[in-house]
Amino acid sequence: MIEQTFQQTFGSPPEVVVRAPGRVNLIGEHTDYNDGFVLPAAIDRTITYAGRRRAERRVRVYSDDFQATVEFDLDDIQKDSKNTWSNFLRGVSKFLEADGHRLTGADIAFGGDVPREAGLSSSAAVEVGAAAFWNKLLGMGLDPVYVVKLSRRTENEFVGVPCGIMDQFISALGRRDHALFLDCRDLTYRHVPLRADVKIVVCNSGVKRALAQSEYEVRLKQCREAVAQIAATGRAVKSLREVRLSDLEAARGALDKLLWRRARHVVSENERVLEAVRVLESGDLQRFGELMNASHASLRDDYEVSSKELDTLVDLARRQPGVLGARMTGAGFGGCTVNLVRAAAAENFAQAVAEGYEKALGLKGEVYVCKASDGALVSA
Ligand code: GLA
Repeated sequence: MIEQTFQQTFGSPPEVVVRAPGRVNLIGEHTDYNDGFVLPAAIDRTITYAGRRRAERRVRVYSDDFQATVEFDLDDIQKDSKNTWSNFLRGVSKFLEADGHRLTGADIAFGGDVPREAGLSSSAAVEVGAAAFWNKLLGMGLDPVYVVKLSRRTENEFVGVPCGIMDQFISALGRRDHALFLDCRDLTYRHVPLRADVKIVVCNSGVKRALAQSEYEVRLKQCREAVAQIAATGRAVKSLREVRLSDLEAARGALDKLLWRRARHVVSENERVLEAVRVLESGDLQRFGELMNASHASLRDDYEVSSKELDTLVDLARRQPGVLGARMTGAGFGGCTVNLVRAAAAENFAQAVAEGYEKALGLKGEVYVCKASDGALVSA
């Protein structure tokens, strides 16, 4: 309990406690930075912040994960190259101040159970949690979408990771028992109910996403280049969001072969998300599962961001009774798969996949049967 950790570290109870969840993406992968569509859910694994005000304009922050404390001055917030875990709070605090919000000094402890570097967006949870913490401590009444943008800006400009907006959005605005359908171009969204008779099961390959950042940047550039090559054929497009599969077919000769495949993933994935939302709303879970499977194939073959471990987990999953669909989730190159499984079969599924994975690759994975949960600011 982070409240107790706070008490032990700082000698008295915290004034406020806030939680921000990790996420799993059901479908819509590598579409957010192409102005496309995504359908993530917040999960019941969270980062919790506990804290209280102090008189000077200094922040003392204790990380439960790293069992370390650092201190920084609100009037001179610098990046910390040693205690990199503190950069999320530093960046969020710096950008809040830069936007004209006057913070006060604080003692803070944070930690949680979102596994790190597993593709479940622990960093988004740490960022959104930091912003939600200040919001509550100081009664700031921040607009949730402002918090989302500030958190992403922290990741892009302060931490230095060029992610899209999905992870921060769902950590702030997820809703219990719902997925969130988000249009990343104009940030309109709606919550789509998930049925109680199916479970979201996450399989963690245990492989850290080593290549993820450099390859992510390569994919980002390839998508921009594909847009430029399509635009050069005379079609006025600003992002792959505006491209249909038929346009892509027509532009086949004009596009570099590799870029064409990258673009086909993004364009087809957007279409899959739109259909997935429709069938989820109409209750056709069978079709939803097929779309998840097709998404995996596209990420593996066209976008080339899967891995042997992820493919193994997906293959094992598809052989289990009660499974509706299985795919890699998040940036790829390690991390997790997401599976939609009939509730009655979920526990057996979890056990069978974990055992099969160890047998096949000699690796210990972890399996989490998740509950779609509230975001940090959903009722704010
Ligand atoms: C990471 C990024 C997201 C998104 C996914 C891929 O999680 O942080 O913005 O691009 O990869 O869908």
